[in-house]
Amino acid sequence: MSADYTVQGSVAVVSLNNPPVNGLGLATRSAAVAAIERAEADPAVTAIVLTGAGKAFSGGADIREFNSPKALTEPTLHSLIRVVENCSKPVVAAIHSVCMGGGLELALGCNYRVALPGAQIALPEVKLGLLPGAGGTQRLPRVLGLEMALDMVVSGTPVPSEKLAGTALFDQVFPAGTDLLAAAVEFAARVAHARPLPKVRERAVDYPHPEAFIQAAREKVKAMAGPFPAPLACVETVAASVSKPFEEGLSFERERFLHLMQTPESKALRHAFMAERAASKVPDVPADTPVRKIERAAVVGAGTMGTGIAMNFANAGIPVTILETKGEALDKGLATIRKNYENTVRKGKLTQEKCEQRISLITGSLSYADIAQADIVIEAVFEDMGVKESVFRQLDETMKPGAILASNTSTLDLDRIAASTSRPQDVIGLHFFSPANVMKLLEIVRGKATGKDVLATCLALSKKIRKTGVVSGVCDGFIGNRMLEQYLRQAFFLLEEGALPEQVDGAIERFGFAMGPFRMSDLAGNDIGWYIRKRRAVESPHIAYSKTADLLCEQGRFGQKTGAGWYDYRAGERKAIPSPLVNDMIVQHSRDLGVERRDIADSEIVERLVYALVNEGAKILEEGIALRASDIDMVYLSGYGFPLHRGGPMFYADSVGLPRVLDAIRRFAGGRHGEAWKPAPLLERLAAEGKGFQA
Ligand code: NAI
Repeated sequence: MSADYTVQGSVAVVSLNNPPVNGLGLATRSAAVAAIERAEADPAVTAIVLTGAGKAFSGGADIREFNSPKALTEPTLHSLIRVVENCSKPVVAAIHSVCMGGGLELALGCNYRVALPGAQIALPEVKLGLLPGAGGTQRLPRVLGLEMALDMVVSGTPVPSEKLAGTALFDQVFPAGTDLLAAAVEFAARVAHARPLPKVRERAVDYPHPEAFIQAAREKVKAMAGPFPAPLACVETVAASVSKPFEEGLSFERERFLHLMQTPESKALRHAFMAERAASKVPDVPADTPVRKIERAAVVGAGTMGTGIAMNFANAGIPVTILETKGEALDKGLATIRKNYENTVRKGKLTQEKCEQRISLITGSLSYADIAQADIVIEAVFEDMGVKESVFRQLDETMKPGAILASNTSTLDLDRIAASTSRPQDVIGLHFFSPANVMKLLEIVRGKATGKDVLATCLALSKKIRKTGVVSGVCDGFIGNRMLEQYLRQAFFLLEEGALPEQVDGAIERFGFAMGPFRMSDLAGNDIGWYIRKRRAVESPHIAYSKTADLLCEQGRFGQKTGAGWYDYRAGERKAIPSPLVNDMIVQHSRDLGVERRDIADSEIVERLVYALVNEGAKILEEGIALRASDIDMVYLSGYGFPLHRGGPMFYADSVGLPRVLDAIRRFAGGRHGEAWKPAPLLERLAAEGKGFQA
């Protein structure tokens, strides 16, 4: 049942019923049309209340129907709205909790709207690269006025219903605590015989000379929209509500909506939206897997990562103790935390009271006994197996039974760390990204012995601390850094062959990356990669890599923190200035290698960097390190600044076409350091079968 029908006196009540948010899927639309028609046909009914059962009026389109023919099957949302609008008896929308997207468009098709305060009112389609396609852009300005409607359509931001009381959107906003249904039925009985029935479509948008306002909006939105076409299309369609008669405006909106549906930008945004939801699902860990309670946390190590990780818990209201070996290091870590919070207060993003509250949740200690009762402990000490093993042995000895023992290691073998304890089922990797209190990504590393309840608990925890959790299997670098290594390798080879850091960064930033590889390395610290390469050179001496980055580190150019890296930096500034010294060193290095430098096109730079990610991503997928291609996309979108409008490396490869990607990889395999380009068997197979990575 996806719409309930009851009659109270002479008022029919149609209640959308499609949990969790009464998404307007085909079955719900059909049931709603049938219910309205039934009420219209019943002579005993004089008015109709349309509302939503459970937690929402309606959250809009049913996301489960996205990209399926059902979305376009009759009755479409348009048809449902027409049935409501053309009904010969008054239809009153009774709105509570959530009224968004198609839900709001449906309400706008009703003759009257009454609401409870606290309902979230929005047209959020722009966030998926779309615009409201069922009359929202034409009807909302008719009740809210041009400026307010434009703001809501372009931003997609929800507005609480009480803020809209007094506009023509609502005929009445009841006081909090009112029995909405009873009040709406009473309202409907009162207007049952009012004629003519008011229709939003018949109202005029009152804005005598809108051109200047529209032009200013157009320019402002253009500057903010970046590569996304939807915000500007929103401006144009809302503008049409003033310049065109209603039906023409509606057709224009339809045409723009269908156009946006096909744009790569909207496809990428919809992919990212679905990918984020998919990432929290693990096939062999069902939704009803029991979770452990997390009420107290501990962090070992008060360095760069440990302090940021502790802040995540405090922000979520979970008390956390940081353990250090030396009082000095502990004090420094706690001072960093205070400074971070105070900066946020200074920026006006946190109240002083909340700041103190959060700081009070974070305590420090030098004794394992003080963390023994924590429900979860996250180790963030030096990246050294010996140190980690010794910490885990102590955690094993001191932590209470059932505590989750997590490591923030970025490269070390989690199974080996787990083996240093007597409870490997309680050990898991929680790989945060720097700065840990800011970056959205959390790789949740599942060891071979990690318990399903431990995994389920950490997936739930990632939501609680507002991270995008993505599950990874155990391998060197997990999903993100393992792929990044191939990307960086290509970036370094490009320097040897003829490119300079600013050219490589420029090309990939124009592609849309937040930051090119060299600016990123300067920010993260070039010494981290140096340390890892030295370890690799011992473990895997056969893997060729460029020595350029080592030459840089040998000169102490570790990046922003030393005031010099791939670029020069002025004291206290983050602006990367091309360094003649580094560029000479790069050219000299090519000479030493006997490589004749050549002009390298931006397109080659982008292909080599992005396809290096794709090829390694395919191997990661095939090995089962990642559960699905969209998880890899989530890692890159939320942790590595991959351009959102391209949907992540795997989605991007699908949109280019895998045969084309494979051709390029084979071409590179025939070039210098071609051994780095062995095509992933999965890529070869999918390309041959004419398929993509997205199942
Ligand atoms: P860091 O050097 O800033 O901090 C390490 C802290 O651990 C120091 O304060 C040190 O005093 C403390 N420590 C060392 N041994 C200890 C012990 N036995 N007991 C208690 N405290 C001890 O290092 P950072 O950068 O915070 O890295 C920590 C871990 O996080 C490493 O495993 C690293 O690979 C990983 N990681 C680092 C990222 C980064 O960007 N820095 C990103 C993701 C993971």
